[in-house]
Amino acid sequence: MSVHVGSLDLVSPVMCASGTAGHGAELAPYMDLSLVGAVVVKSLLHGPWAGNPAPRVHSVDAGMINSVGLQGPGVQGWIDNELDLLVASGASIVASIWGRSVDEYRQAAELLAPVAHALTAVEVNVSCPNVEDRDRMFAHSPQSTRDVLVATQACNVPRWAKLSPNIMDIVPIAAAAAEGGAQAVTVANTMIGLAIDVEKRRPRLGKGRGGLSGPAIRPIAVRAVNDVATALPDLPVIGCGGVVRGVDAIEFLMAGACAVQVGTATFADPRAVQRIHAEIDEWCQSHNVANVADLTGALTTQGPT
Ligand SMILES: Cc1cc2nc3c(=O)[nH]c(=O)nc-3n(C[C@H](O)[C@H](O)[C@H](O)COP(=O)(O)O)c2cc1C
Repeated sequence: MSVHVGSLDLVSPVMCASGTAGHGAELAPYMDLSLVGAVVVKSLLHGPWAGNPAPRVHSVDAGMINSVGLQGPGVQGWIDNELDLLVASGASIVASIWGRSVDEYRQAAELLAPVAHALTAVEVNVSCPNVEDRDRMFAHSPQSTRDVLVATQACNVPRWAKLSPNIMDIVPIAAAAAEGGAQAVTVANTMIGLAIDVEKRRPRLGKGRGGLSGPAIRPIAVRAVNDVATALPDLPVIGCGGVVRGVDAIEFLMAGACAVQVGTATFADPRAVQRIHAEIDEWCQSHNVANVADLTGALTTQGPT
């Protein structure tokens, strides 16, 4: 069940997705975090950040919509208050960082450098508005994506770029992330959505729009993974979006991902990552697949036969 992601070996292909497993060891009472592929912590700005007005989460038919707004203690606050507990849990730790400008990403990466020995990787969440580019998402511009990846080298650990699915062609963005030094890309973040309370004639979320996640977005994310894996076969892809069962993860692997992340499913079942790992293992045994890594890119036809 172990997999390679760039230069890294993970004990499992299933990781906790950023923002859905807390900042630290919150899930440790539910499962042995040392058996999880990696725990990607909630994205951190260089300094503390208050996030968006409530309500911040709302359940929709096939998932959820959120506008948490990247609330967090800042990189130093996280190092001081959360990191030791997470290290003690035995988890492979992936710190996630975000910024509103290239320089804010640089600052966040520099603050992580002194604890590089405790980190497996840094996931650079480029699915955030760039104040220097008319609030366009970094991940919607190859140039901005490349600039952010170059600026985050100082963290001194392998970097993954967390991309946005809200774009027609994700391949040039993935290529730009790799040119900037990303060892892998995580595909993908949430889809932008709007849920309305028709009685109040108001958006369900305090911010208005939010990020749609869960099974509703899985076929979009699987397609985006396949786009990147097909066009850039040497770039490891981590699939993310609507993984709830083992077979969902296997879809991502067959589309070309080398590992997956689980987000929304954890809200319904805090042991989802552990369960999905076991379901993949069972599927592999019943289908005579010796190594889960053999499933990566195993998609053979473009449609039903
Ligand atoms: C409540 C919530 C908070 C999130 N916060 C972050 C975050 O801080 N950084 C990030 O890169 N992605 C964040 N995400 C996106 C998830 O990591 C994941 O990419 C997305 O939810 C799709 O996966 P899923 O369908 O398994 O949830 C968040 C998602 C949710 C639902």
